[in-house]
Amino acid sequence: MSGEIYQLVYRSIYRSGRIDNSLQALRDIVKSSRRNNASLFITGYLMFDGSIFLQILEGLRADVITTFAKIETDPRHRDAVIMQSVAVEKRDFSEWDMGGVLRTVAIPALLSGVEAVEFAKALASQRVNAA
Ligand SMILES: Cc1cc2nc3c(=O)[nH]c(=O)nc-3n(C[C@H](O)[C@H](O)[C@H](O)COP(=O)(O)O)c2cc1C
Repeated sequence: MSGEIYQLVYRSIYRSGRIDNSLQALRDIVKSSRRNNASLFITGYLMFDGSIFLQILEGLRADVITTFAKIETDPRHRDAVIMQSVAVEKRDFSEWDMGGVLRTVAIPALLSGVEAVEFAKALASQRVNAA
């Protein structure tokens, strides 16, 4: 297996449950993400503005793809669209086993994949972790 790091960026739309509690949903997501991602050495960042999720996953290609396949079918969101999926020289979020930022400023609708990573880096550098 190559040691190449793969970075996947996607966005999706929050889908509330019967009782709408996005705060609890995000807490649950971050909790299981931390556990699973740490065991696969997947790092990244999860942003949520109340309706849009924007997430970056980085790790070995096979692990990132398997993890995204699981995430994609999660009923807590819909219409996941991959914005960028590339090999990178190094991780951008090496310190985050999945930081969560709740209710960021609105996630811009027309971000490119590269812009999405910059947006996440700016938030992560503030060390905001509301989840
Ligand atoms: C927006 C969103 C992001 C998620 N991110 C991750 C993640 O980074 N890692 C992960 O393992 N699960 C993530 N999940 C949760 C998975 O869909 C799934 O519920 C979870 O991995 C199941 O873990 P478990 O089998 O340990 O209970 C995410 C879910 C949503 C809705």
